[in-house]
Amino acid sequence: MNTQPVPQHIAMIMDGNGRWAKQRLLPRTVGHVKGAANVRHIVKACNQLGIEYLTLFAFSSENWRRPVEEVSALMGLFLQYLENEVAEMKASGIRLRVIGDRSAFAPLLQSRIDQAEQDTAHNTKLHLTIAANYGGQWDVLNAMRTWQLANPGKTLQDMDADALATHLSTFGLPDPELMIRTGGESRISNFLLWQTVYTELYFTDLHWPDFDAAALKKALQWYAKRVRRFGRTDEQVASTVTASADQAQPAADFGGEVKIS
Ligand code: FPP
Repeated sequence: MNTQPVPQHIAMIMDGNGRWAKQRLLPRTVGHVKGAANVRHIVKACNQLGIEYLTLFAFSSENWRRPVEEVSALMGLFLQYLENEVAEMKASGIRLRVIGDRSAFAPLLQSRIDQAEQDTAHNTKLHLTIAANYGGQWDVLNAMRTWQLANPGKTLQDMDADALATHLSTFGLPDPELMIRTGGESRISNFLLWQTVYTELYFTDLHWPDFDAAALKKALQWYAKRVRRFGRTDEQVASTVTASADQAQPAADFGGEVKIS
């Protein structure tokens, strides 16, 4: 039985590009090229499915440790993505935001990011957030520091979770109900640490370039069957479900074909 409405916000850890390439005896960077192409497909699929928020982990604060050629290929793909996709984003109602410490990026990439954010700022259909040079610990520490700067007369004793959240890079986005990680690993890898306290975690062995609309549909079907308790008991959840049944939002029902053009 379906119990969950369609998730409003999905976060994705796009893992497995390197292994996808290795299995085909190709350089890792080819895996990233395929991965970037798949970003386009999945963003389009989410937009068509009515997902309102999609947050993608494109480059972690730890990814600088990779070989310099790979880092530079990833930066190049990010730049290319912005240059190629912003017009389509504008036309299809997608608002782009980038979270993470962008000061480490080349000036050209920084200015393209700023421009893309400005160009899509009025869109509201799908809020696409790309996490680049992002780390969950960085986000929380940064939020604490900016909270302190904004509240000079106060001490940490005055800070609560809601106040801190207003300083996170994700302020304004709802917490993700579903996080999908491709590539066969079952960990969060310093992604949205604060924001995923009650997020349902879905892991698939598919490598990111192979994670297509059908695989997304499967993840949504899995999510639809989760019982989300938020610290309450099953009985409490059942009584809330009964009480709100008349006003329930449509449950996620992806039993039919999901047509992604
Ligand atoms: C993880 O695969 C993937 C990354 C570190 C980068 C993700 C980048 C893209 C999907 C393409 C560029 C992004 C945009 C937004 C255009 P991995 O290299 O760790 O794979 P492995 O675990 O198999 O080695």
